[in-house]
Amino acid sequence: MKLYIVFMLLISLPMMVNAGQWEALPNTPPIPTNNPQSKAKIELGKTLFFDPRLSSSGTISCNSCHNILAGGDDGRMVSTANGKIGKRNTPTIWNSAFISTLYWDGRATTLEEQAKHPLVDSMKMDMVDWQAVIDRLQAIKGYRTMFTKVFAAGNITVNNIVKAIAAYERTLITPNSPYDRYVTGDKNAMTKQQIVGMKLFAKIGCITCHSKPNFSGPQLRGESWSKKFPKFLGSDYDTKYRLLEDTGKHQFTNKESDKYFWRVPTLRNIALTAPYFHNGMVPKLDEAVKVMAKTQLNKDLTTNQMYYIVAFLNSLTGEFPEQAMPRLPVILEESVLNK
Ligand code: HEC
Ligand code: HEC
Repeated sequence: MKLYIVFMLLISLPMMVNAGQWEALPNTPPIPTNNPQSKAKIELGKTLFFDPRLSSSGTISCNSCHNILAGGDDGRMVSTANGKIGKRNTPTIWNSAFISTLYWDGRATTLEEQAKHPLVDSMKMDMVDWQAVIDRLQAIKGYRTMFTKVFAAGNITVNNIVKAIAAYERTLITPNSPYDRYVTGDKNAMTKQQIVGMKLFAKIGCITCHSKPNFSGPQLRGESWSKKFPKFLGSDYDTKYRLLEDTGKHQFTNKESDKYFWRVPTLRNIALTAPYFHNGMVPKLDEAVKVMAKTQLNKDLTTNQMYYIVAFLNSLTGEFPEQAMPRLPVILEESVLNK
């Protein structure tokens, strides 16, 4: 009899999860009308993304920090380039096509706008200015041909460069995680522990911020979504993980009311992108979950609760589309770095 009850409980667990609040990742992200996708544009964007010759030293590409062959990040606490140590952790760009509050502090709203920064940022690819980027691309016949193929006037311009990069980024999505398969009907896709964790995630309130298919709030619908972190001040974590040193959104708005506001990051593939938080101070996922419960919900999780939530977060690791490496167009008998 007892066994029967346990059995019934186990098989009814999946049904006890409230279906309405769980959404699978769509197969395509929102595409802006002024930058439609095309095969040639995506290929150009990918070539630019992997081209280290778009950095002053000729050694740093977007992929150096956002490693597409892995989690789309660099696994470091904070980023590094040109012998300089950055201030923030490198977020994954897998599924960033679903995010409309970009950067930890939310200072960009589209992938096109975001892509205007790294090439000419001295902490990143460090080109002197956009003219220097354009001059290098102009010097390479293969690039001239590619731009002509994609853009009507064929111009190598800032706007066209960032459009191509954004088009490639919109292909970097990871659907079909165990979670996605589970919520679209495959009741065996997730383990029992993951299902318990999923319910806990909703019950204790993680989902109030990490909602919708990307677990980054209603950003998919174009809304801005930033929240205070730490929301509940005064835990040991504030000093242990230096949570009050960087003021987040306030850094670029200068508004007192924006102090410690951070955009809500995606939790997709979160098991692949340690260390955690804007400053990368928390090395492991279980600890990051404990920190969140305490600072955002004022709750102390039991070890079991933490374990179940971590199991659930592991069910958000999706399928990564295979990437064929582009051949970079060249100039002959001379280094393009001299251009
Ligand atoms: C030296 C490392 C480095 C390089 C090179 C680099 N990035 Fe980043 N990227 C970062 C860091 C660090 C952040 C977060 C900065 C912040 O939030 O203040 C970031 C943020 C982003 C974001 C926002 C993601 C999100 O979830 O908010 C996108 C998109 C992005 N980078 C794309 C690119 C592209 C495209 C290139 C090449 C043109 C590039 N990055 C080059 C380190 C780098
Ligand atoms: C009040 C809103 C809110 C709630 C509730 C909340 N989070 Fe977060 N979460 C955030 C914000 C904002 C960040 C970004 C923090 C930063 O900038 O470092 C974040 C970051 C994270 C990260 C690190 C992401 C990364 O890429 O480094 C994880 C993991 C996480 N949350 C899990 C959870 C879990 C699990 C719960 C429930 C126990 C939860 N969150 C509850 C707002 C929230």
